[in-house]
Amino acid sequence: MNVKKLIETQVEEIKKTVGSGKAISALSGGVDSSACTVLAHRALGPQLKSVFIDHGLMRAGEPQEIAKIFAGLGIAVDIADKKKEYFAALKGKADPEEKRKAFRYAFYSSFGKEVLKSKARFLIQGTIAADIIETQKGVKTQHNILEQIGIDPEKGFGFKVIEPLKELFKHEVRLVAKELGLPESIWNRMPFPGPALATRIIGEVTPERVDLVRAATVIVEEEAAAHKPFQAFAVLLEDKGTGIVGGKRSFGHIIIVRSVESRDAMTAEPSPLPWATLMKISKRITTDLPQVTRVAYELTGKPPATIEYI
Ligand code: XMP
Repeated sequence: MNVKKLIETQVEEIKKTVGSGKAISALSGGVDSSACTVLAHRALGPQLKSVFIDHGLMRAGEPQEIAKIFAGLGIAVDIADKKKEYFAALKGKADPEEKRKAFRYAFYSSFGKEVLKSKARFLIQGTIAADIIETQKGVKTQHNILEQIGIDPEKGFGFKVIEPLKELFKHEVRLVAKELGLPESIWNRMPFPGPALATRIIGEVTPERVDLVRAATVIVEEEAAAHKPFQAFAVLLEDKGTGIVGGKRSFGHIIIVRSVESRDAMTAEPSPLPWATLMKISKRITTDLPQVTRVAYELTGKPPATIEYI
């Protein structure tokens, strides 16, 4: 892949498609949407508005951290607070695919409103090849796939979608992001799914359950960081397990620690994290979050498991 050429071609392509109109870039801070946002900003300058949807399912401090990084690159980012809409869409839903579809609907309808507000006609998003393949194979509904499965975003939501990276895989997108001058914290960022922490909660997604998995995620990411896993995170199960907290019986939550090695997320193996790291993670989670009485390490590769839990 010739990275420089790809950037040039995509910048030209975006210019040609958008013309003198306006576009919105859907930025989540992951390497895919970040690379897309910089490409689109190069192509469109002030004709582009970059929007970060704060759906309440991001990791700790993420919306502000991403807005700051982009401000440093001269790209202003609007943080749109949509927590109420997303939690309302997810309320009462426990089925994985129902949750994914509810998230996808909330995602496109919230961008539909942003597009309308800005009088834009295009949504630029960081869909990559793996997202399309997995949705078409029927593995899971990705939050950012519509056209490829026969849904016309213009009819449903009022905008056309531009996907400059849709033929690339993750490791190729990282090269593009690096070439575009994004900092290492972005080009080397751990993949984080569009539906965010909702993919790491079995059962209903409520603000309380998100807070719990978010706090456990901070611990897993911090302790696993030295081992540079492809992805490492915490998962909240729906089951509970008996424990003892403060000398009393407690029927507490179970957190799964998942860390995997992969190149393109199409297959993965569990990371051989040192025992001491795993024990530290377990101790920190049960100390900081006493409502958790059990912590387990996941030993399944992909396949047969997928990386995320829904
Ligand atoms: P799975 O769980 O299918 O994940 O093995 C493969 C890779 O994709 C990420 N992932 C997603 N990314 N929207 C995304 O943008 C999604 O709906 C989604 N689901 C999973 C996951 O984190 C892993 O890197």
